[in-house]
Amino acid sequence: MAIREGRFEEPLLNETFSKINSSIGFDKRLYREDIRGSVAYAKALFKRKILAEDEKNDIIKGLKSIEREIAEGGFPFRDEDEDIHMNIERRLFDKIGETAYKLHTGRSRNEQIVLDMRLYLMDASRTIEKKLYALLKALFIKAKNNLKIIIPSYTHLRQAQPVSLAHLFLAYYHALRRDKDRLGDFQNRLRVMPLGSGAVAGSTLGIDRAFLMEELSFESLSRNSIDAVSTRDFIFEFEYICTSVFITLSRISEDLIIFSSDEIGHFSIPDDLATTSSLMPQKKNPDSLELIRGKSARVAGNLISIITLMKGLPYTYNRDLQEDKEGLFDTVDNTAIVIDLMKEVVKGLIVNESRIKVTLDKSKDFLFATDLADYLVRRGMAFRNAHRAVGSIVRYAVERDKDLSDLSLEEYRKYSPSFDEDVYEVFDYLKSVNNHDVTGGTALNRIKDELERIEEEL
Ligand code: ARG
Repeated sequence: MAIREGRFEEPLLNETFSKINSSIGFDKRLYREDIRGSVAYAKALFKRKILAEDEKNDIIKGLKSIEREIAEGGFPFRDEDEDIHMNIERRLFDKIGETAYKLHTGRSRNEQIVLDMRLYLMDASRTIEKKLYALLKALFIKAKNNLKIIIPSYTHLRQAQPVSLAHLFLAYYHALRRDKDRLGDFQNRLRVMPLGSGAVAGSTLGIDRAFLMEELSFESLSRNSIDAVSTRDFIFEFEYICTSVFITLSRISEDLIIFSSDEIGHFSIPDDLATTSSLMPQKKNPDSLELIRGKSARVAGNLISIITLMKGLPYTYNRDLQEDKEGLFDTVDNTAIVIDLMKEVVKGLIVNESRIKVTLDKSKDFLFATDLADYLVRRGMAFRNAHRAVGSIVRYAVERDKDLSDLSLEEYRKYSPSFDEDVYEVFDYLKSVNNHDVTGGTALNRIKDELERIEEEL
């Protein structure tokens, strides 16, 4: 029986309209959740004596066999049945007859779809969380193995100060760690059970909502039926978290693309994550990283779509809401793949110590400029004056194409009488790194503490 039959004389939908009316092409993905919800609902109807025991059992058996059918690819999906809810209901009728029509008693698709989406995200967010955990672990191990490698840090993409390479990997770690925490917070808000809200005003059947909550592993009940069927903030909250992950991954990608370039070469990406050119035989291209960076655009786009979808939408349910799904599924799929891919990149990333040394050797000791200013400060000079003095020394060295450590003490003294023989002790990368001895600083003992802390929290 088609739902149109009662209300309309005309059994068929306008042909052009039918091209966008049906969502079964994409919401079939929710079949497990939909069936789980319906099994619980059948039990609740039985508790209310709306279904007899054998009816409840028939429904559950029918639903289980539909689940198998869909999983095995043998389910006859029909566009005319619009969405996953109606496709399953129609099939249940094929299998068990009239009893199937009792399942929807007091229930609305408006609440059913929210239930399905929440159940779906409970699962998807846990999957993403696990993948994120594996990536965090890979970053932690990479940091641990590269504690003693000293690289230039960059601001404005210009050489700044020496840091441990571990410090950079742990910077990536922290950004992604926050997203993992965000996922945890999100899951607490997600586990709110909407069934019993009806179409908008709440169920009239005295359905046992607490029972449904337990059955479906939710943690609380929605407290307002209007809100329950209207809201999609849980979807854009999740998409925001995925976008945040992607933004970080796109920045890591950019870092690794730059620093594995022919000119810099601090890193190499493993061959199986690179491609070559169809024309230029010498090329080793970082396409894996470029695609991570590129896909961040569509995930950010999906977030903008759902927010725009919700803006100004009148309460409560409107069919516009059907448009919440494709973007979400796309975001889930791409986030899952890309986190795994970045994990592979991090694991396989080759650190080229000799190329890092070349960069340091070519840096003319300018990475120590701040250390030189600090040297003068320790001898009583105001920082601004020290900054000016060292700035002038750098200019002097640039004009003569000299390294800072090659200038004579006399040359230094021209800029400040505070310079002494021990000024040359400044030009020591490890010492410079270890001078940044503050919580969160790059001093190796601080990073070691941080690694221990991370090991505990991982
Ligand atoms: N396919 C619909 C959606 O995704 C399910 C709910 C339909 N409800 C309705 N009253 N037409 O939102």
